[in-house]
Amino acid sequence: MVWASEIRNKYLEFFKSKGHTIVPSASLIPENDPTVLFTTAGMHPLVPYLLGEVHPGGSRVTSAQKCIRTGDIDEVGDPTHLTFFEMMGNWSFGDYFKKEAIQWSFEFLTSKEWLHMDKNMLAVSVFAGDQDAPFDGEAFEIWKSLGISEKRIAKLPKKNNWWGPAGETGPCGPDTEMFYWTGDPNEIPESFNDDNPLWVEIWNDVFMQYFKDKDGNFEPLKQRNVDTGMGLERTTAILNGVSVYEIDTFKPIIERIEALSGKQYKESEEVIKAMRIIADHVRAATFILGDSRGVTPSNVGQGYVLRRIIRRAIRYGKLIGIKDSFMTNLADAVIETFKNVYPELEKNHETVIRELSAEEKKFSVALDKGLKEFSRLTHVDGKVAFDLYQSYGFPIELTEELSKERGFTVDKELFAAEFKKHQDLSRTASAGTFKGGLADNSEEVTKYHTTTHLLHQALRDVLGPYVEQKGSNITAERLRFDFSHSAKMTPEELARVEAIVNENIKKDLPVHFEMLTVDEAKARGAIGLFEDKYAKLGNKVKVYFIGDYSTEICGGPHVEHTGQIGGIKIQKEEAVSAGVRRIRAVLQK
Ligand code: ALA
Repeated sequence: MVWASEIRNKYLEFFKSKGHTIVPSASLIPENDPTVLFTTAGMHPLVPYLLGEVHPGGSRVTSAQKCIRTGDIDEVGDPTHLTFFEMMGNWSFGDYFKKEAIQWSFEFLTSKEWLHMDKNMLAVSVFAGDQDAPFDGEAFEIWKSLGISEKRIAKLPKKNNWWGPAGETGPCGPDTEMFYWTGDPNEIPESFNDDNPLWVEIWNDVFMQYFKDKDGNFEPLKQRNVDTGMGLERTTAILNGVSVYEIDTFKPIIERIEALSGKQYKESEEVIKAMRIIADHVRAATFILGDSRGVTPSNVGQGYVLRRIIRRAIRYGKLIGIKDSFMTNLADAVIETFKNVYPELEKNHETVIRELSAEEKKFSVALDKGLKEFSRLTHVDGKVAFDLYQSYGFPIELTEELSKERGFTVDKELFAAEFKKHQDLSRTASAGTFKGGLADNSEEVTKYHTTTHLLHQALRDVLGPYVEQKGSNITAERLRFDFSHSAKMTPEELARVEAIVNENIKKDLPVHFEMLTVDEAKARGAIGLFEDKYAKLGNKVKVYFIGDYSTEICGGPHVEHTGQIGGIKIQKEEAVSAGVRRIRAVLQK
């Protein structure tokens, strides 16, 4: 048996040997990025560096990144799809490009010293070219020179061989994807055909050299980057000749599901599918709850996705005959398996168990009643779906799934219309945040980033130096800043803070950053999150200076001088939790 941890370590070690700095996984909940609910790829937290910011780890980094993709949730249970997975990646920020990226992918996959895959089992695809960018003849030639036969190099359009932007705008470019034949080796086709599911994609090398703007134009980026992503579970599965659900990291979870249900995994197709869905969802739920920026089940945003997958797992548990509550038992297996690689899971153990247990308690009884109610139905319309949601806590997706199983036609629009009436849910749906997106580095967002530094310092001036950042969330429309302070701020205090920020904007202070060691940064009075993941990289951290007024650790981006901001208005000050207050402010045109 080849272990996932072996592949994870080998990958990082390989790219370290090629001059890369190993960086830790970022949070599953994107920081300062309201356009997307979860981190969907290793590049996500690296967007500022792909756009030209200086990374403290240098121009080559590598990581194992926790990712959540709910777009494929209906395919979970087949041999290759998961909602939570680990993505191995290596990046070049304006450093190496196609030749090295492809050669290294090939070397890692096939070399005896590394994964030692048979190159005859591999196929690749390259970008065919269109009006936005030419055919990637360079990638094609590199693959040929490495001994991949022309018939196994597919030239495919943007739909297949272009990655990003995940949102409307952002860095993107042509890519080359690597596939492994998972069928009978004696029946391996001479030519590659990406419609055949036995060819499983394992790795994607993206040549990020364009920025897609709001008008749909592809502008060349200042620097040419490489962004790659190798699916850890898929690669491990292939090396073992099994599905992703049969690799070592899934084994303890599946074994517990077998014990709890009294059924064997391989008993029937239905049982296999149900156990895989439960195992996948419990992993995703445990990682979301156990994240350093963890969220709890709710009816909006990430909390809603979390609720939906927990409830879906519970339903599949019932389907295979699990009588008692089981989620915490399975979460323990997840934490045990991953705590050494992702220590936050162990740290947040209690929260994970408490929240899972509460959610399961809340839903189990309602689920039984709701299912009984459902079995009496002769049709499902928007009103019925809404009642199931309101009375029994059935997420709309569960009602849809049950409807399909019963052969009812589901009119999604009617569902949606009824749900729109429900304030919370309609907000989740209309925010469009399910689709995924990239960090918004628009002008407005950049202005808000710099304003947040001024606000942070102004709060310390007015309230005292113990004020610390507890959270920050920026959209193109407003900033939200959470900080430690035990009392409600008075109107006078708020007015003073606002005036100080506006004065510093008027002064048109220059903004610049320096790379400093943590000690130097402290000595120069830098505030901000010293435990920021990048503060631990190499010896240096990035420190932004706004004139002499503010010195703060931060990844950026920021305006060049404060006059660009124009001015701000504080709209609201409120409590978030005991000892934490929140300010909401908007730019004044
Ligand atoms: N960002 C690329 C992907 O997710 C590597 O496939």
